[in-house]
Amino acid sequence: MNIEIRTTQDGSHTLYNFDLNENYHSIFGALDESAHVFIEAGLKPVLGAKNGIFVLEIGFGTGLNAWLSLCEVENTDKLITYIAVEPYPVPGHVAQQLNYPELAGKDDSPLHQLYQRIHDTQWGTTHIIAPQFHLRKLPHPVEHFKPYWLFDLIYFDAFAPTKQPEMWDRAILEKIYDITVPGGVLVTYCAKGQFKRDLKEIGWQVETLPGPTGKREMTRAYKPVH
Ligand SMILES: C[S@@+](CC[C@H](N)C(=O)[O-])C[C@H]1O[C@@H](n2cnc3c(N)ncnc32)[C@H](O)[C@@H]1O
Repeated sequence: MNIEIRTTQDGSHTLYNFDLNENYHSIFGALDESAHVFIEAGLKPVLGAKNGIFVLEIGFGTGLNAWLSLCEVENTDKLITYIAVEPYPVPGHVAQQLNYPELAGKDDSPLHQLYQRIHDTQWGTTHIIAPQFHLRKLPHPVEHFKPYWLFDLIYFDAFAPTKQPEMWDRAILEKIYDITVPGGVLVTYCAKGQFKRDLKEIGWQVETLPGPTGKREMTRAYKPVH
C-alpha cells in the first residue's frame, strides 16, 4: 500500500494515500473529526434509544471509528455489533504505530490493547472484542457487500467525492438505504450539495449539522419510519 503516517493539527495521526493524494481524515484533526462526526452526531443519539445496535462502517481504514465506538460502550450494558467493509486493509505494523490510544488518554488502559486487537483479528469472521463490542471486518468493497443484517447506524467514511466519486454513486446510497432499519441513521463528514440532493431523492431525511474543527458542515440522514 502506498501510504505513510502523518500528523494532523490536533496531534493525532492519519494516513496519507499517495495514489489518491488524499488523507484518511481531516488535516485539522483526525481524532477530533471522528469523535465529532461519528460518535457525537451518530453513535450517541442512536445508542441512547437502544440497548443493542448494528453499525456498518464503510471504509474501516485505521479502525479509529471502531475503536472510539468501543470506548463509548465499555462499562455499559449496551452491545454494538460492528460490521466494517474495507478492500485495502491497513497493514498491522502501520496500525501499531498510530497514536490514538495514547492521545485519547487510554495508554494505561485495557482499551489500548483492544485497539490492537481490533486490527489483529482475522477478517471475515465475527470476534468478541469485548462483551459490549462484537466486530466483523470484511475485506470487500462496499459494492460487493452482501448483508445479512439491517443496520441502525451507518458510518459513511469514504474518501472525498472528488477523489473517489464512485463511492458516492446513487446506487451505493440506495443500497445503504435498503439495509438501514426504519428510523436508522447515516452520518458522514461530507456536506456536498449533490450528495445531499441524492440522499433526499432516495428517501433519506437530511440534516446539515456544524462540522468538526476546520469544516463548516457535516451530514446526518434518517431513514423515515413510514
Ligand atoms: C477516508 S478513509 C477513512 C478510513 C477510516 N474510516 C478511518 O477512520 O481510518 C476511506 C477508506 O475507504 C476505503 N475504501 C476505498 N474503496 C472502498 C470501497 N469500494 N468500499 C469500502 N471502502 C473503501 C479506503 O481504503 C479507506 O480506508
